[in-house]
Amino acid sequence: MTEKTDYIGVFDSGVGGISVLRELIACMPNERFLYFGDSANAPYGTKPKEQIRQLALNNAKLLMDYNVKAIVVACNTATAMAIDLLRQTYPDTIIIGIEPAIKPAVRQFPQGTLAIMATPATLQGEKLQRLMALHPHDRLLKIPAPGMVELVEAGLSDSAQMDDFLHNLLDPYVGKLDGLVLGCTHYPFAVRSIRRVLGDKTVLFDGGAGTARETRRRLAEKDLLSDGKGEVRILNSSADSSILQLCNTLLTEDL
Ligand code: DGL
Repeated sequence: MTEKTDYIGVFDSGVGGISVLRELIACMPNERFLYFGDSANAPYGTKPKEQIRQLALNNAKLLMDYNVKAIVVACNTATAMAIDLLRQTYPDTIIIGIEPAIKPAVRQFPQGTLAIMATPATLQGEKLQRLMALHPHDRLLKIPAPGMVELVEAGLSDSAQMDDFLHNLLDPYVGKLDGLVLGCTHYPFAVRSIRRVLGDKTVLFDGGAGTARETRRRLAEKDLLSDGKGEVRILNSSADSSILQLCNTLLTEDL
């Protein structure tokens, strides 16, 4: 077997997983990260399950070809559709998925009104049903947001187009939600636009920080944490060279 490198591989359907990468870097600044965004095939969340599973497998294979020591699936949709398949395919590699932050939202607002906004695939997946059954709540609404990923991929996270999109989607909920779970890793980049539409009172929950802590815990358990110089390398399947510029902007901008 080929020696593993000390890279932690991270993938998403596109640039959204950079929101998780930011948390990973903050949590483990001494690690080397190899990020792959599959922007040529984004969005995943409106594709059939079998296609999403195949794309997730392709991404994991690409990272495994770099002999990464672990893979973080920084995509709720790919986690929901394919995490079991990835773990079966690579049983000797640590594979961490992301799940919508329903647990902290239910804990903070056991009696309040909550909503989860995510891709259609994530909202229809069995994984979410299981998560909701584990953390039962009487008023947890589901808000599918097809089209939002495309706006983030186009660099329009904080734009008039995003405001229009979110007004259409969220206006019926203004003043009614105690908490909103951002169940797609692209959405944290639209937080300014979400605030303009929903106001400041709704608490936003996102699973990135929890995923980063879980990754650190799993690496520590196997004594695989690095103490070297941190590094970030970004790859993308899109032929459009401006996508790497967008990734760097999303990695460093103030949110
Ligand atoms: N970032 C992905 C997620 O967390 C977006 C999926 C998509 O490409 O539709 O679900």
